[in-house]
Amino acid sequence: MTRRKDHHGPYRRAVITGASSGIGEAFAKALPDRTDLLLTGRNDTALGELADALKKTGRHVERLVADLSEDKGRDSLVQAAQAFAPDLLINNAGLGAFGRAVENEPLTERAMIEVNVVAPAVITRALLPEMLQRAREEGRRAGLVVVASTAAFQPLPYLATYAATKAFDYFYAQGLASELEYEPIDVLTVCPGPTKTRFFERAGGRRQPAGSPMSSAKDVADQALRALGRQNVVTIGASNRAYRGIAKLLPERILRGPTRRALRESFKGR
Ligand SMILES: NC(=O)c1ccc[n+]([C@@H]2O[C@H](COP(=O)([O-])OP(=O)(O)OC[C@H]3O[C@@H](n4cnc5c(N)ncnc54)[C@H](OP(=O)(O)O)[C@@H]3O)[C@@H](O)[C@H]2O)c1
Repeated sequence: MTRRKDHHGPYRRAVITGASSGIGEAFAKALPDRTDLLLTGRNDTALGELADALKKTGRHVERLVADLSEDKGRDSLVQAAQAFAPDLLINNAGLGAFGRAVENEPLTERAMIEVNVVAPAVITRALLPEMLQRAREEGRRAGLVVVASTAAFQPLPYLATYAATKAFDYFYAQGLASELEYEPIDVLTVCPGPTKTRFFERAGGRRQPAGSPMSSAKDVADQALRALGRQNVVTIGASNRAYRGIAKLLPERILRGPTRRALRESFKGR
């Protein structure tokens, strides 16, 4: 869907979750120098270093340490973000855990749902009404980005909970895009495939999924910001785009065997 050419130039204040590393950090670096930032994550040292580097352009940068797996952290982010009055919200924070769901740490299983599902839904619900109101009053467009994953395209054994949380992100953001089609907001669902960040190691992955070249976090952020305002879903990388097409066409039972073999390789040894 074509909307406008000057897509992310006008954003003045962006809130980025999961800005302390990987794709969130890359979003912070990729936004124009004149966009003020509210960066959030749990790692204060990493957030501080990033904030110091990004302040050098003269922009205003705030940081907030908040654990998005808890109501307390989500509430403190909502409060800080409401005061910051963003026109761009990037829901990026997330985690995964390889392994059989019935054997994974119960707290990690729960954290995936809290951070990947509850946090974007609660934060978006809290911030969007005022973002829309400001956009209408100021005659500008707001932006909403949700980082889903190619893991959302099909059920994934050995990443069952993670894939289900990303399916939520994928459908939630697309549903919102449709509901808000005639409002002054651009909504984008981002579907990265395997990307060089700390994600894979933190998730307990042993090997990269076979057949998927790794993207850089910068590629993901750059492609997403280019797509924002121009389309509602962006899948990063040609092979991932081809896979999205295949996953839409083929019955799930045909993909199940190859998917299980590829994912089993990724967490082998556990
Ligand atoms: N890397 C991939 O292959 C890949 C592929 C598809 C989609 N994605 C998605 O991309 C997003 C970013 O991941 P990444 O690859 O950049 O991984 P990453 O380097 O591990 O970054 C994850 C970010 O999420 C934050 N986070 C995790 N748990 C949190 C919590 N409880 N409270 C607050 N923040 C929390 C982390 O902050 P702290 O470290 O400060 O806690 C960090 O900033 C995730 O939603 C992930 O699902 C990644």
